[in-house]
Amino acid sequence: KMKAFIDELMGKMTQDEKIGQLNLVSVGFDVTGPVVSKDVDANIRKGLVGGVFNTFTPIAVRKLQEMALKESRLHIPLMFGYDVIHGHRTIFPIPLGLAASWDMAAVEQSARIAAEESTADGLNWVFSPMVDISRDARWGRVAEGAGEDPYLGSSIARAMVRGYQGPANDLTKEASVMACLKHFALYGAAEAGRDYNTTDMSRQRMYNEYMPPYRAAIDAGVGSVMTSFNDINGVPATGNKWLMTDLLRKQWGFGGFVVTDYTAINEMMEHGVGNAAQVSALALNAGVDQDMVGEIFLKNVAQNVQSGAVSKAQLDAACRRILEAKYRLGLFQNPYRNVSQERATATLMKPEFLAAARDIARKSLVLLKNERSALPLKKTGSIALIGPLANRQKDVIGSWSGAGDWKQAVSVEQGLRAAAPGLKITYAKGANIADDAQMLERLNAHGGELELDKRSSKDMIKEAVQVAQSADVVVAVVGESQGMTGEAASRADIGLPGQQLELLKALKKTGKPLVLVLMNGRPLTLAWENQNADAILETWFAGTQAGHAIADVLFGAYNPSGKITATFPQVVGQVPLYYNHKNTGRPYAGTDKLDKYKSRYLDVSNEPLYPFGYGLSYTTFTYGKPTLSKTAISPTETLEVKVTVQNTGAYDGEEVAQLYIRDLVGSSSRPVKELKGFQKVMLKKGESKTLTFRLAPNDLKFYNNDLKWAAEPGDFKVFVGGNSRDVQEASFKLAAQ
Ligand code: IFM
Repeated sequence: KMKAFIDELMGKMTQDEKIGQLNLVSVGFDVTGPVVSKDVDANIRKGLVGGVFNTFTPIAVRKLQEMALKESRLHIPLMFGYDVIHGHRTIFPIPLGLAASWDMAAVEQSARIAAEESTADGLNWVFSPMVDISRDARWGRVAEGAGEDPYLGSSIARAMVRGYQGPANDLTKEASVMACLKHFALYGAAEAGRDYNTTDMSRQRMYNEYMPPYRAAIDAGVGSVMTSFNDINGVPATGNKWLMTDLLRKQWGFGGFVVTDYTAINEMMEHGVGNAAQVSALALNAGVDQDMVGEIFLKNVAQNVQSGAVSKAQLDAACRRILEAKYRLGLFQNPYRNVSQERATATLMKPEFLAAARDIARKSLVLLKNERSALPLKKTGSIALIGPLANRQKDVIGSWSGAGDWKQAVSVEQGLRAAAPGLKITYAKGANIADDAQMLERLNAHGGELELDKRSSKDMIKEAVQVAQSADVVVAVVGESQGMTGEAASRADIGLPGQQLELLKALKKTGKPLVLVLMNGRPLTLAWENQNADAILETWFAGTQAGHAIADVLFGAYNPSGKITATFPQVVGQVPLYYNHKNTGRPYAGTDKLDKYKSRYLDVSNEPLYPFGYGLSYTTFTYGKPTLSKTAISPTETLEVKVTVQNTGAYDGEEVAQLYIRDLVGSSSRPVKELKGFQKVMLKKGESKTLTFRLAPNDLKFYNNDLKWAAEPGDFKVFVGGNSRDVQEASFKLAAQ
């Protein structure tokens, strides 16, 4: 039916109208590049626009859709896209925080609510999930992904696609929205963590370590894919035929459409691979279907068809894929998708969504340290609430929260006051978030809303110390502003910016219990903080309900259960630092300090500050030794791994039990650990549960040097524990037959 409908429609289309479907224009505010769409209304009327992004609300969407339906010759409806990354109006924790929940139902629910809200607001397409694996905390966009692990990243990719597109993957449903997998591919491996930078990588590493989450989203039926800005082994992703045609479409069977990231086709001229006509042809021939903002297809495809650089069939294929997406969304039957002001009012930020945002935010918080029983806090007595982020509503919603109204977000101060009216809370700023005037100006030019306190740092710290001296406990809310993470927010120094560390050092000298509440979108270097603070709670940018969720954890109404999904280094020079590294020929066990000729640094150990999967609770958990259903299995057998986990502390709590394997001998070297399973379990005080993990045949497979995906017979280790470092192990053999 779809084919016949589109055949008939395409039969009526002029070449220009076909090219028009390949044109995605931006109408609105979120400008993230040098080009802005021009003559939008006129182009819609001429049938030269396939979709619009950066526009939402029922009124604005209706107006443009009506223009396309009533005033263009063939009345083809438009698609409406937007960067709905971690919620639309109700904002959830940034994706790195969502991942730290290790709770796939919560992740899916956040995407489902985002789908309900964005569709009620006129949208039918979201530029999410972002599933780029990254091992480099300098890269600002670490905030937008699930961290460093391909297995966890794949689970999250599936949960997000299901949440957006709905459990039945029926995009005609009014509350389903088409997802867009991004950034294809390897954007998270940008050299030196500098945004838009080059990537160069072996196919084997790509297939084993970076591609799995993209593949998982494709297998989950994601409707569209966005290219990445980087080049891959010398060929820009946006003009990379191997990537988009051979791998994505032919090997993986992707049937949806590919859109560029912003002006990525135009940017191929800067990459140095051709002029405007040539890069347009490169992109279309590689398998790109839609050009975001660049208008380079609009200006060049006709000429390319005429010169033979692009075939009519290639143009038709791209146009067809856009029309198919519109068909799948039901836009030809229901172009407004029942959008109305009434539906929007009844849906956006409704109480159930806010309650879910609070609950999901609590699950994303990670307790990094807790000594001297500094936490939970008492609701009586007094606290000194210090730090530039303590009263910031703007920052708690994080980057890529364009439709989120930060004025409706709950700051830490608001959350604490609401939770503990009997507690005396005295606030002092203590430091600016950053003091680099140029950086602040740049951040403010993009909506940072950051004020530079004109007082000297000495005076600000002095005031904070005075406040601290007369309180029982110091709660310091420090970190990055939301604009210091996300796109175009790479940092070469990943410590606390500005004078915030100096502030903490002065607070420490008061001798008062020091509780740090961190807000940041990447792993930070926190060596001093870890040594000197009594407690550290990592809160990322926790969304609309951040302050309430943080208060819930600080006062013990919720026992923290999050675990980090990106390794925190001791110093930035260790980056890239990740748990699933290779062993090398000279591994350093960290025991013999005089042993020089090992794979190590002279000035710092190889250990992270906090390993992947790490996070504490107010209670403690003890793991028994894992027991295996067999000590040798055949390649078709599933191995059962059982482990008993006991809550040995004084609170009920949730634990994320993690299972890793190591393939000890392979035809190529294998990582020292690879995550292959996890379970989040609730254990009452004193309770123990025996968990069963299953290692299926595919869990033991990897892409070898010939890119063949197979398991290799031999010895394996299994590790189970509460993080990637502190584990119990067992061994088994994989037999040849
Ligand atoms: O979706 C984004 C992408 O992640 C980065 N560049 C701009 C796009 C559209 O806003």
